[in-house]
Amino acid sequence: MRINVLLISKMERNIGALKSMIDDEDIFVLGDSPGGSAALDKIENTSPDIIIMTLGAGDTDVLNLAERIILHRPRTFVILAAENLDVETMQSAVNAGCHNITEFPKSPKEFAEYIKSVYHNESIRIKSLSQKESLLWSSTVITVFGAKGGLGKSTISANLAVKLAEKHKKVALIDLDLQFGDLHIFLDIEPKDTITELVQDVITPNIDSVRSYMAVHSSGVHVLCAPKSPEYAELVSAEKIQSLLSLLRTYYDYVIVDTAPSFSEVTMTAIESSSIIFFVTGLDISILRNSKLSVSILESLQQTEKIRVIVNRAVDMHSITINDVQKIIGYPIWAKLPSDYKVAVNALNRGVPFVVGAPGSKISQSISGLVDILISGGTNKTVLEKEKKVNRKISLFKKK
Ligand SMILES: Nc1ncnc2c1ncn2[C@@H]1O[C@H](COP(=O)(O)OP(=O)(O)OP(=O)(O)O)[C@@H](O)[C@H]1O
Ligand SMILES: [Mg+2]
Repeated sequence: MRINVLLISKMERNIGALKSMIDDEDIFVLGDSPGGSAALDKIENTSPDIIIMTLGAGDTDVLNLAERIILHRPRTFVILAAENLDVETMQSAVNAGCHNITEFPKSPKEFAEYIKSVYHNESIRIKSLSQKESLLWSSTVITVFGAKGGLGKSTISANLAVKLAEKHKKVALIDLDLQFGDLHIFLDIEPKDTITELVQDVITPNIDSVRSYMAVHSSGVHVLCAPKSPEYAELVSAEKIQSLLSLLRTYYDYVIVDTAPSFSEVTMTAIESSSIIFFVTGLDISILRNSKLSVSILESLQQTEKIRVIVNRAVDMHSITINDVQKIIGYPIWAKLPSDYKVAVNALNRGVPFVVGAPGSKISQSISGLVDILISGGTNKTVLEKEKKVNRKISLFKKK
């Protein structure tokens, strides 16, 4: 991601102060301007993504310029940084059509998060405007579950979330592997707060309080990280998770929940609160045995309608085929992801999801395919149906 910004302020010292608050590898300052017609030329010549303007008391010229930009360049987003953010200033900004108004930044990290969230939200709004039909006005909660450790649940959760955000969806990623959650490693984030601090500090959560405990990944995904140490896991109750998920679904298009490989109360609550369960399995007999047992538990909880089976690390083998997996688990295989140790481990070690770091790899393209199906709301033809078609084509070809 690269966000190009232009700074506008009459006061040199404000420009300097803003510059000192921009220190992020994704945000680039294209230049600055004191305002007026010089600013219009600068905007025309540099085409910034975001214009940050300082706003002092009685700065009607600043508000007039902001209004012009908002009306005439809707793809250039305006942020007003107010020296004194009182009700009157807010009202005047709103009257000028600007709804991204903030206090003068206090720390580069917070300012970077603010700029990124404005960029992300405004991009979604602009994209929705250009679509004739309004987008699906509902939220999808996906729990990624698997009957064993190491199946690729976190790999799938992280890449899925980032790919959805790339498609301008608002995405929350929740690490519910409360003892050993490692999504922050997949995404190279060092969380200040985690789910533990959230449930301890906030008694009646609202979306703003919850968001303040989430880290913002450079893709725009909001991540609620797992506790920093396993002993804090017990502080997070199933009831808290239930209310957290029902709150998050009011705000995000997609809430992706990564889980630990066990049927804890917290995991069951996530599963019951979801609209889709990505049930990750693999091609070995021990995984399949555990998968079969887990599916029967999901059956007894009446959750089977939501199951989408994903075979990870699918390689062509003679001992177990996709067909066998379907027979053993008793559910159609919804998708399969190829095995690619190099790409997967490299992504994890670098903390850059492969959909970003190796977008051309087969495994990334499989994730992209999944995301397209999810977004279109369509159902994936199961892998077996697709393979039958391919086989039919091959046999027709052979006959010729
Ligand atoms: N399709 C794949 N091909 C090759 N390696 C993979 C693939 N998917 C995941 N891996 C690798 O397998 C390892 C385990 O993956 P991951 O951590 O995502 O599993 P998990 O199910 O979340 O495990 P846990 O239950 O321990 O949290 C990682 O090193 C990951 O890079
Ligand atoms: Mg994991």
